[in-house]
Amino acid sequence: MPARRIVDNHQKLNLCTPIVNLVRFIVCISGASGSVYGLRLLQELPGEKTLVMSPTAKEIMEYECGIEYEEVKALADHVHEDDELGAPVASGSNRVDAVFIVPCSMSTVAKMSQGIADTLITRVASVALKEGRKLVIVPRETPKSQFMLENELRLARAGVTVLDASPAFYHRPIELGDLVDFVVGRMLDQLEIEHSLYRRWRD
Ligand SMILES: Cc1cc2nc3c(=O)[nH]c(=O)nc-3n(C[C@H](O)[C@H](O)[C@H](O)COP(=O)(O)O)c2cc1C
Repeated sequence: MPARRIVDNHQKLNLCTPIVNLVRFIVCISGASGSVYGLRLLQELPGEKTLVMSPTAKEIMEYECGIEYEEVKALADHVHEDDELGAPVASGSNRVDAVFIVPCSMSTVAKMSQGIADTLITRVASVALKEGRKLVIVPRETPKSQFMLENELRLARAGVTVLDASPAFYHRPIELGDLVDFVVGRMLDQLEIEHSLYRRWRD
């Protein structure tokens, strides 16, 4: 399975190079197609990582990548279930440098845009917004309804980075992994984390 191979290759080559120390990230994986983006981010992101996966995200991960939840958990320092609303990361008092929701389902986008925080993922997002923290979401849906677009606009206006799972082709991708890594590289760019996941335009 191609997505499985991308992840395995990087584990073998140990391409994960920590650049930034003493940073804390929350990586949330919600139930949209493209769970491989969340996996690759977990592999490439330096620092201390807390993982939250929604129940549908776990199913999709297994279906699309052939990777079980236990394997994904091993890539994070802390793991919480999506219904664990008492987890430390549910509180604004917890120190967090940035939150990623990758991929981000339209359901999670809709909840976040209305301030609904009934799962740990949406609570973490709500906390990031109220605390003025960096929040990067990677929505995956096409085509998008008016509601979906309006919800994303509300989030963008509130300071959320809406980074679509939309790879470019100017780096001349050869393998599926090149497309995935372009999007993951753009996520790392948001925090100015050095990487060599894709070749920049005219570099
Ligand atoms: C196999 C599968 C693929 C899905 N792909 C998408 C998708 O790409 N984008 C999306 O917004 N929802 C997608 N969904 C629907 C969401 O999983 C569903 O709306 C769910 O309630 C999202 O909940 P969550 O955001 O808490 O994970 C998919 C569902 C399944 C089962």
